[in-house]
Amino acid sequence: MKKRVAILISGRGSNMEALIKAAQNDDYPAKIVLVISNKDSATGLEIAEKYGINTKIVLRKNFTSDLDFDDHLSNILSQLQVDIICTAGYMKILTKKFVGEWMNKIINIHPSLLPSYKGLNTHRRALQDGASITGCTTHIVSAELDSGPIIMQESVLIEKDDDEDTLAEKVLKLEHRIFPESLQKIASGKLIIKDNIVLEN
Ligand code: GAR
Repeated sequence: MKKRVAILISGRGSNMEALIKAAQNDDYPAKIVLVISNKDSATGLEIAEKYGINTKIVLRKNFTSDLDFDDHLSNILSQLQVDIICTAGYMKILTKKFVGEWMNKIINIHPSLLPSYKGLNTHRRALQDGASITGCTTHIVSAELDSGPIIMQESVLIEKDDDEDTLAEKVLKLEHRIFPESLQKIASGKLIIKDNIVLEN
């Protein structure tokens, strides 16, 4: 049976689209059942709707705390019997409680070779440091920001004439490849998480 997947977004949604496209394949082990955005301006919402995926907007301003906000998300996801959550450019930090409730079930994509460059402006910081290589990482989400067992990483060389935009573009191409592949490996059970490590099953 296909795993039921929800995607959390905050903006453009290009990684979300890569996941939706992959999931259109009959052999893909996951079905995208919902896209939730915490921003009503997220252009990814229109893309999801174009593919016929249900969407929901949940705004922080309608809740008294991050805990209440995440409890609401958790209820929506439980009601839909979601098995796996993908955070795809979701720029709100998840509460420890939420991460605990969905332990080993949240997959994030981050535009750096973690543990390097956690947080924001990853490409700018890599360029400022004169790094010669960067890339992207998919990982299981643990309570600490941009941390947790790594599923896949893909790297790219930083060239002399690269700027933040060219680097972001190069890395994004890799993101669109490894995110669907990572979800496939987890949803199919090819990879499992044991003792905080991702292992071949
Ligand atoms: C992507 O590059 C993603 O890796 C990054 O935001 C971008 C979202 O683009 N995520 C983070 O920085 C989270 N720490 P998208 O909306 O087109 O997928």
